[in-house]
Amino acid sequence: MEYKKPERAQGKCTSRKKAPFGPPMQPEMSSNINSENSRVLAEIWDDLICPKKRLETHGRFLLKKLGWNNCSSIFDACLGTGADALYLLEHGHEVFTQGFDRIVGNEIDAHFRSIALAKAREKGADLAITAYDWRELGKYRDNFGSMVTTLGFDAILCMGNSLTYMFSREDQMRVLGNFKALLKEQNGLLFIDTRNYDYMRRHRNEILSDRKNFRYSSKYVYCGTDRVSIAPVKISDDELVMEYVHLHSGKVGYLTLYPFGTSEFVDLLLKTGFSEIKVFSDYVPGIRRDADFYQFICVKSPAD
Ligand SMILES: C[S@@+](CC[C@H](N)C(=O)[O-])C[C@H]1O[C@@H](n2cnc3c(N)ncnc32)[C@H](O)[C@@H]1O
Repeated sequence: MEYKKPERAQGKCTSRKKAPFGPPMQPEMSSNINSENSRVLAEIWDDLICPKKRLETHGRFLLKKLGWNNCSSIFDACLGTGADALYLLEHGHEVFTQGFDRIVGNEIDAHFRSIALAKAREKGADLAITAYDWRELGKYRDNFGSMVTTLGFDAILCMGNSLTYMFSREDQMRVLGNFKALLKEQNGLLFIDTRNYDYMRRHRNEILSDRKNFRYSSKYVYCGTDRVSIAPVKISDDELVMEYVHLHSGKVGYLTLYPFGTSEFVDLLLKTGFSEIKVFSDYVPGIRRDADFYQFICVKSPAD
């Protein structure tokens, strides 16, 4: 399924030279970020996502779409424990002879960031890591170096159900606008996804009465649910609390999230001014009511 603005410019991405980065900024505190809760989440995150299984679909999807669109400079705006960015670095040569030109990972949470950093070092991966709040990205554009100042990234990733950390419409719009501004003018791509919150909102009573009623295939994004059990423990139209129970250690973490409706999410992307939005349900084109996740590839063109 595709949503389009009437006029769309055509173009190709180009390769870039690397540039240095400025110091990371201090993120603000919240229960989702830089807290005891986020420390627990960071510790159990790789068991939850099960990178090997996730990347069989999610990683292949990103790799193919980035390669086909000749996107070689990437900003992973929410690095988490680094699974996606490190996978792309390792597999870049499958789509570009030299691999990706450069990948920058951004992670505001110090607990997640230190895990990503340790993994990158262990693998000897050429991953630059920043710690900027998405809402303030505009201020730090120059820190990415002349490549971004003059051209912009070929693609930005905001995957793993991340925009849902933003509650106010103002913040959501500002973040999307900041991502768009960091993309190159001609055919810069934003990859973004959301959980199927419509399903959770429709079935809230059933799910809240017994967590076993929460339907999730475990095939996509969060693939280790045999190790980390997940279920919503609060569902309202404007707030959802997800509980994460690590079955081996008994550790429990929570995320308080804004439960986007799918059409609301598409409207937001259109309002941000992307000229074309391609929609996928669990990585297959189109919108399926029973999907676990929806992926969106949003195209920026000079007129936007
Ligand atoms: C649900 S996690 C997804 C992580 C990773 N993309 C994945 O799929 O495993 C969302 C991430 O977004 C980051 N994040 C949330 N709000 C942010 C903000 N305002 N600025 C920068 N990063 C933020 C969090 O620290 C968290 O690591």
